[in-house]
Amino acid sequence: MTDQPEKLVTLTDRDGGNANAEFPVLEGSIGPEVIDIRKLYGQTGRFTYDPGFTSTASCSSKITFIDGEEGVLLHRGYSIEDLATKSDFLEVAYLILFGELPTESERAKFVNGVTYHTMLHEQINNLFRGFRRDAHPMAVMVAVVGALSAFYHEDLDINDPHNRLIASYRLVAKVPTIAAWAYKYSVGQPFTYPRNDLSYAENFLHMMFAVPCEEYKVNPVLAKALDRIFILHADHEQNASTSTVRLVGSSGASPYAAISAGIASLWGPAHGGANEAVVSMLSEIGSTKNIPDSIARAKDKNDPFRLMGFGHRVYKNYDPRASVLRESAHEVLAELGKEDDPLLPIAMELEKIALEDEYFVERKLFPNVDFYSGIILKAMGIPTSMFTAIFALARTVGWIAQWNEMVEDPEQKIGRPRQLYTGPKKREFVPIDDRG
Ligand code: SDX
Repeated sequence: MTDQPEKLVTLTDRDGGNANAEFPVLEGSIGPEVIDIRKLYGQTGRFTYDPGFTSTASCSSKITFIDGEEGVLLHRGYSIEDLATKSDFLEVAYLILFGELPTESERAKFVNGVTYHTMLHEQINNLFRGFRRDAHPMAVMVAVVGALSAFYHEDLDINDPHNRLIASYRLVAKVPTIAAWAYKYSVGQPFTYPRNDLSYAENFLHMMFAVPCEEYKVNPVLAKALDRIFILHADHEQNASTSTVRLVGSSGASPYAAISAGIASLWGPAHGGANEAVVSMLSEIGSTKNIPDSIARAKDKNDPFRLMGFGHRVYKNYDPRASVLRESAHEVLAELGKEDDPLLPIAMELEKIALEDEYFVERKLFPNVDFYSGIILKAMGIPTSMFTAIFALARTVGWIAQWNEMVEDPEQKIGRPRQLYTGPKKREFVPIDDRG
């Protein structure tokens, strides 16, 4: 990254401090340039201040590019629209992990590798039994994925590329089994083992809904819709959960522990938990006539209510994933004969009204990936509590690709941000008898 022609920005310190400190400006292949401030503290004695990292690039990456102003999302240069309509999830997973679309033979080898890693160590079944049946699936996933680090000691040499490859296959392959079994455990049904003759999405539906008493036929419409949802959630640059995975991984921790931390971060309602919150919000609104009141509440600073599924740190335009999902929602509901699903018209009307409202227009608040995904998943018969678990299942490939990139990046070191200290200055200890 640093072998670029010198382009400098000068920091002039008006109060005569370290005047005229100069910093290199680095250029990526597309997108904003960055000011390389690695020497800032050494040259000026000052830190930058950027809570929430709104203007901070934490790393360089070749995996995903987002243009928030234009609503563009590329994975290794391919548009999300093309990938969602012309590819399938395991092909996109290969692209995200290895950087190129696979040839026929590369694809076959990758699919085979994932397929033959989908089973869990039988001891892991016991882990589920420690939970109450009503445990949230995300809590179960955080625990069981983290526990994988106790089952694969030989994968803990993260500097060995072959170890990293095996861990990558294991996580992409086993997280769907863990997610489906979290659901099975919650409804008191026996675990369904993966089947090697099914596609990735078909296998997940099979593990979710098959029971030992009868043959389960996977609905191809649902499988295709689910595969597309997986593609749309696969990776998304340095979002909160991906940054969590990178930060945990930067200390050399197990990739299974790092992915478990990513799942924990994704669970929050401001992040991946929003898809579950959107369906709850739409159900609470209940009718299009209640939309004006909800919009008013979302704008009221004294009301914690927010329009879930709206707004995004990066997109100041329509989230391209939301556009694909909105079309997919119509298709899936029609194909399932559920065109009269009450949530879709409420979502469409809410979107229409919000996008005409000054508050949302001024703040460039558009529907994001979570706004329509829940409507599709609900129509497919997937319980709301599993929505974020499905997001985590799909995002695992992005997290593990970003983790690999971080481990291989010669410029990366353990993440250790600084702070602006606003606490008490040094003071003498006061014995308890003198504390008044
Ligand atoms: C995901 O980062 C990623 O890439 C994430 C993700 C991925 O694929 O990994 O895309 C997935 O997490 C999508 C986001 C899902 N979350 C939600 O839908 C929850 C609702 N959205 C908000 O909580 C919010 O928009 C965030 C968290 C998504 C973004 O918040 P920011 O960037 O910190 O922006 P902000 O909270 O400072 O909001 C700016 C303004 C504020 O008003 P003012 O102080 O300027 O008056 O917009 C307002 C906010 O109050 N605002 C909203 C709003 N979102 C922002 N007002 C009402 N409803 C909302 N949804």
